[in-house]
Amino acid sequence: MHVQDVELVISAVAQSQYPDDTLPEIALTGRSNVGKSSLINKLINRRKMARTSGTPGKTQTLNFYRLDEKLYFVDLPGYGYAKVSKKDREKFSHIIETYLQTRTKLKGVISLIDVRHEPSEDDKAMYNYLKYYGIPVLVVATKGDKVSRGKWNQRESQLKKALDLNQTDDFVIFSSQTGIGADKIWQWVGEQTEV
Ligand code: GTP
Ligand code: MG
Repeated sequence: MHVQDVELVISAVAQSQYPDDTLPEIALTGRSNVGKSSLINKLINRRKMARTSGTPGKTQTLNFYRLDEKLYFVDLPGYGYAKVSKKDREKFSHIIETYLQTRTKLKGVISLIDVRHEPSEDDKAMYNYLKYYGIPVLVVATKGDKVSRGKWNQRESQLKKALDLNQTDDFVIFSSQTGIGADKIWQWVGEQTEV
């Protein structure tokens, strides 16, 4: 999909702040620093639309990006960052869960993991949570540029096994540096949102 116009409509915390229109939404989730904001930027071909950082925990609100008049990408706060206080962690998980459980316009979630690392307990819990609530999920193993192409099949099998995915579950290896995998992600987004 070629995106012409992108707008950060709102950085929301409370439900009352969510955008009030009918467009479908795709949310992005994953540990702090896994590359959620970078993936958004790559997919929309903007270098700095979604704020990225080497410092984990940068995105602390639900950021609603409207793409043309077609759909929203919703950048969720990263989980699992040890240096965030327990109180803040609880606050974030409340923000994320409220969104995931109540948002009827949510058509699917892109769940990011790092291609180099075993999925954390938080990654597994998030995947199981999405499945339990019947939310369509695409697992994206990102930072693909950090692993040689010859190792990709092996990493894919290992990661699918660790998350207990079926062979048919949606899975893509991606790199926000090279853009590899972006077409498959767009295809999945198109299928969920019918745009
Ligand atoms: P939070 O907002 O803290 O939850 O992080 P995030 O998931 O949005 O991560 P972000 O996109 O800010 O990226 C974190 C760091 O990883 C940045 O330094 C990025 O440049 C780097 N990064 C993200 N994606 C890739 C990738 O595909 N390849 C490489 N090599 N680096 C990446
Ligand atoms: Mg971010």
